[in-house]
This record gives sequence, structure tokens and C-alpha cells, in this order.
Amino acid sequence: MESLISTKSLDRGARYEEIVPQIESLIKEESDFIANLANVSAALKLALKDEASWVGFYLVKSGDLVLGPFQGKPACVRIQMGKGVCGTAAKNKRTVIVPDVAKFPGHIYCDPDSKSEIVIPLMRNGEVLGVLDVDSSSVGSFDETDSLYLERVADMVVEKLP
Ligand code: SME
Repeated sequence: MESLISTKSLDRGARYEEIVPQIESLIKEESDFIANLANVSAALKLALKDEASWVGFYLVKSGDLVLGPFQGKPACVRIQMGKGVCGTAAKNKRTVIVPDVAKFPGHIYCDPDSKSEIVIPLMRNGEVLGVLDVDSSSVGSFDETDSLYLERVADMVVEKLP
């Protein structure tokens, strides 16, 4: 994992072009979903470096989002469907980009360092199985480039979920 590419001089899209295939090869041989989610969150956190203060997964359990493998500070364990950025992305089954969390009504302050956030739903056959959440300690960190590539990562992850 030392060799994971995170060259700051490359633009974000070029960095994802390098990261995403590495993540794919990291999880393709392993069937244990917890191990895979743990490695994906670690790889994304490492690759995004200072731009991501928190990277992790919430998985749908009995209708709630429950904290899964992550990298960063300890976070809220349960989020109700429709609540916060994560619950909104899960309920609407759409990626949510929040440039400034202070301006998102109902944002849940799990990570005190978070200033902007992107949440990607993990979808299989129209059903939401969880979310991938990436937080940044800067305002306006995420855009459509992030959603494009993180949605690809989410698709890979979904194949590994039970
Ligand atoms: N901010 C999220 C909660 C999860 S933490 O950021 C890790 C939300 O509003 O759903």
C-alpha cells in the first residue's frame, strides 16, 4: 500500500484515474466485505491525503444507516434514513455534494473538522445498501469529478456486499 499514488501535482481527475484501478485490484481477489470496505476507505483516505478528513461507509441495517469501516475520527454510529447528508443520499438514492456543511439543513456533525462533504449511495437493483461518505476540512472540496469516480468505486464495492 506504500505505493498508492497520490501525487499532489496531478489534478483530481488524473489522480482518480490512478487510484481507482488500484482500488479495484486491491479488492478483486477478496470476498470478505468488511476487509474490502476497510481497505477501500484506507486507500481513498491515503490517496486524497489532506483533502479528506474522514472516509468511510454506513450500511443499511434494519432501516438505519449503521457505521461501517472508516478512516478518520470516531463518528456517529447510527443515522436515520432521510437524516443528515448520509440519510438524504440514501433516501433519495442520489449522490449529494455539500460545498459548505454549515449551509446544509440537518447536517450531522459527526466529524468536527468537516467543512464539505460528498455522499454516494451504494445501490444494487434499485435498492440502497449503504453509503460511501467522504468529508473534507476545507469548504468546497468536492465536485462532479469526485462524484464520477467515487460512484465507480461505489459500484465496485457493491459487488462485494452480501
Ligand atoms: N455528516 C454526516 C454524518 C457522517 S459523518 O460526517 C462521518 C451527515 O450529515 O450525514
